[in-house]
Amino acid sequence: MDNTVVHVKNVHKIYGKKSESQFHALNGVSLHIQKGEFVGIMGPSGSGKTTLLNVISTLDRPTQGTIEIAGSDLTRMDQRKLADFRSEQLGFIFQDFNLLENLSIYENIALPLSLQGVSSKKIEPLVTNVAKKLGIEQILTKHPVAVSGGQKQRAAAARALVHNPAIILADEPTGALDSKNAKGLLEAMANLHEQHGVTIMMVTHDPFTASYCQRILFIQDGQLYKEIKRNNNRHDFYKEILDVLGEFGTSHGIA
Ligand SMILES: Nc1ncnc2c1ncn2[C@@H]1O[C@H](COP(=O)(O)OP(=O)(O)O)[C@@H](O)[C@H]1O
Ligand SMILES: [Mg+2]
Repeated sequence: MDNTVVHVKNVHKIYGKKSESQFHALNGVSLHIQKGEFVGIMGPSGSGKTTLLNVISTLDRPTQGTIEIAGSDLTRMDQRKLADFRSEQLGFIFQDFNLLENLSIYENIALPLSLQGVSSKKIEPLVTNVAKKLGIEQILTKHPVAVSGGQKQRAAAARALVHNPAIILADEPTGALDSKNAKGLLEAMANLHEQHGVTIMMVTHDPFTASYCQRILFIQDGQLYKEIKRNNNRHDFYKEILDVLGEFGTSHGIA
C-alpha cells in the first residue's frame, strides 16, 4: 500500500511578474511525507520555509512543479475545489492560536465540523475524542480568555484534528508559549504522532521544538540542504540539529 500523504515534485516558486524584479523563493524542491510521520522544516530566515508551507497548504500556488496530498493533485484544482480540499483534508495550527474569543473551547474545536454542516449529534463524540487525545476534556466549557496559553494551543491542535485531516500543518506552534507550555504542547503533538498515527508537518526555527520531530528537512536558498532522522534519544537529536544549524553560519539569522 502506498503510504505517501504529501508528494512535492520539483516545486519552484517565483515571486514577482516577469517584467518586475523576480525572486526565486523555491528552487526545485522535492519531498515525500509518509502517513504517521512527524516532520520538521528548518532553515535560515528567508530560505523559503513559509513559502513551502503555503504551497503545501494550498494558500499559494507553485510557479512550477506538482504537489499531491492524499492522492489529489493540488496544482490541477480550481479555487473552489482547493477550498473544499483545505477544509476536509488539512488541519492548521498557527503561532497565535486563532481561537474565536466569543466561542467556548468546545465550540472552537467543533468549528471545522459545524462549518461543514455536520450535525451536533455527530460532532459531540468527535470533539470529546480529540479533547481526550490532547488532555483538555476539563476545559471544554470555558472560553479562551479563561485558559492558559498552552491549553489554548492544545485546543487549536484539537480543532486542527477534529475532522480527521490527512495532515496537520503547523507554523511555529510554540512561538507564543513559555517553555513549560511549549513542552506540554510538543509532548501532546508527539503523542498524536506516536499513539494515534497522526501525520504532522511543522515549520520551526527553534531546535528544542524541532527535536520532537522524527525527521527534519533543512532548506537553504529555496532548496533542500539536508535531511536528518531521529533514531536516538531526543537530547542527542537536539545536539544534531544544533550542529546542522551551525553549518548555516552566523551571517544568517535563524528565523
Ligand atoms: N510575496 C512575496 N513577494 C516577494 N518576495 C517574497 C514574498 N514572500 C516571500 N518572499 C521572499 O522569498 C524568500 C523566502 O521567504 P519565506 O518563505 O518567507 O522564508 P522563511 O519563511 O524561510 O523565512 C525571502 O527572500 C522573501 O523575502
Ligand atoms: Mg517564515
